[in-house]
Amino acid sequence: MMVDEIRLRQSPVLTENRGKLISLSAVNEQRQKDQVQGDNTIKELKVKVRDFSFYYGSKQALQNINMQIAPNEVTALIGPSGCGKTTFLRTINRMNDLIPGTKVEGEVVVSGQNIYQPAVDVVELRRKVGLVFQQPNPFPKSIYENVAYGPKIHGKKKKTLLDELVENSLQQAALWDEVKDRLKDSALSLSGGQQQRLCIARVLAVKPEVILMDEPTSALDPVATQRIEDLIRQLSMDYTIIIVTHNMQQAARISDFTAFFLLGDLVECGKTSQIFTNPKDTRTEEYITGRFG
Ligand SMILES: Nc1ncnc2c1ncn2[C@@H]1O[C@H](COP(=O)(O)OP(=O)(O)OP(=O)(O)O)[C@@H](O)[C@H]1O
Ligand SMILES: [Mg+2]
Repeated sequence: MMVDEIRLRQSPVLTENRGKLISLSAVNEQRQKDQVQGDNTIKELKVKVRDFSFYYGSKQALQNINMQIAPNEVTALIGPSGCGKTTFLRTINRMNDLIPGTKVEGEVVVSGQNIYQPAVDVVELRRKVGLVFQQPNPFPKSIYENVAYGPKIHGKKKKTLLDELVENSLQQAALWDEVKDRLKDSALSLSGGQQQRLCIARVLAVKPEVILMDEPTSALDPVATQRIEDLIRQLSMDYTIIIVTHNMQQAARISDFTAFFLLGDLVECGKTSQIFTNPKDTRTEEYITGRFG
């Protein structure tokens, strides 16, 4: 038995992920060839970030980031406040475009498309790459309308189709049973945890490929947090998920890969098991053991 594996067996937070983590080492090797072996097919990497830098005006917030993310994985972004996690997350669906005076260098490729090329349809990009915010932010509309909103914008008008999409999305977000009899109620009448699952359903309704989540449980109690964590593991079967978290246990519980950011640099990115048991960089070790941050 390898040392890594022994550590993994002893680590309660990682035990549940052990089978998946070990099988992912093969995936990691394939990544270097820009492809991953799926069950029967060779799949493209879902997100490739190359020599990427980001500026707010003259202030550089990200420096020369390189990262590769295969499909159907959960990647956790960790690091102290102000290190650029949110900035990085938001570059993956060009959400930062909305902030005047920002500038990017390098490439972000999503499903084979360089998303910073001028011809890219940003509305379509944001359908493909959905974002769940830290604070649940449902629209002041009914539960049904919150979920139907995105599909309507993307041209889906038929009621039977919308009904089906709303039900499926709420099912997938593990909220359907709690709201099926009150779809016309205001979304604002839901609890914080339910609102966050509604926001996830809203993203799912437009059939994304990648889901970005910025500290999605930081405003929630432990029970609601657990439900979202379970949901994230479940959704990773069908989606590629990138999640920012300040909670080390959460990163260890739910992610396959972990990326540690510090002062705009990506210090280290690797299998979650490796980052938490055997980090390569002393700064990573200091951060995950709580010595700063
Ligand atoms: N709209 C903005 N305009 C100018 N600077 C910004 C803006 N948003 C973020 N920054 C700066 O960019 C850097 C990275 O911020 P970012 O929000 O990405 O950090 P973070 O890692 O998400 O932090 P936290 O853990 O506190 O959420 C910080 O120095 C921050 O002050
Ligand atoms: Mg942030």
